Amino acid sequence: MNLIVAVDKNWGIGKNNGLLFDLKADMKHFVEHTRGKVVVMGANTLRSLPNGMPLKNRVNIVLNPDGDIMDAIEKGYVLTTSLDELLEQVHAVKDNEVYVIGGAMMYHTLLPYCHTAYITKVDADGEATVFHDNLDKLDNWTCTEVGEPIDDNGYTIRFCTYKNANPVEFESTIDLNKEHLHTIRAEQAFLNRNK
Ligand SMILES: NC(=O)c1ccc[n+]([C@@H]2O[C@H](COP(=O)([O-])OP(=O)(O)OC[C@H]3O[C@@H](n4cnc5c(N)ncnc54)[C@H](OP(=O)(O)O)[C@@H]3O)[C@@H](O)[C@H]2O)c1
Repeated sequence: MNLIVAVDKNWGIGKNNGLLFDLKADMKHFVEHTRGKVVVMGANTLRSLPNGMPLKNRVNIVLNPDGDIMDAIEKGYVLTTSLDELLEQVHAVKDNEVYVIGGAMMYHTLLPYCHTAYITKVDADGEATVFHDNLDKLDNWTCTEVGEPIDDNGYTIRFCTYKNANPVEFESTIDLNKEHLHTIRAEQAFLNRNK
């Protein structure tokens, strides 16, 4: 599993259930990574998206223990209500096809399962109230790439890559096969068609 996140210089990622910065180049980078893939998010991140709608052109899996299946059907996302259920859903999907996209609680929960983290570092203090784990302080994680500085809407950003030396392998408790991703995609296509 991958994760993708934009952090400020304190590893801050959000405040008031929103993003810290309006970054166009970073948004393009996010779309390039995740288009056509499976994205995994927490309940607050779904709420933070425009009209609380899942992202287009991706299979959206949301972890929300209090989730409403009717909301999932109407909006077209896959609802999971526990971490085990979420891991079952992503288990059969090719590792590289899954991106954790937030927020703080989801990144923290799924960090041990991720092998790669795509971190956009923003050289500014966004006065965040929610934070990502500082990967520079975690033994398992190593920064393998630091991109050139880019100006993005007045902010200096760098696209960095971190690798986890020891990602946790997760087992599925149900018997899934390789058709699983297609099933999830078909479900979402069906839901989208019937909106
Ligand atoms: N900078 C970035 O790249 C980026 C990306 C995405 C989001 N964000 C920001 O992150 C902030 C949201 O982060 P957040 O931590 O508040 O929300 P979150 O991780 O999106 O969602 C948290 C909710 O998800 C469910 N959840 C998460 N982990 C769980 C677990 N292990 N077991 C059961 N349920 C779990 C819980 O739902 P219930 O409360 O319903 O039980 C929990 O309250 C916002 O400010 C957003 O803009 C930033």
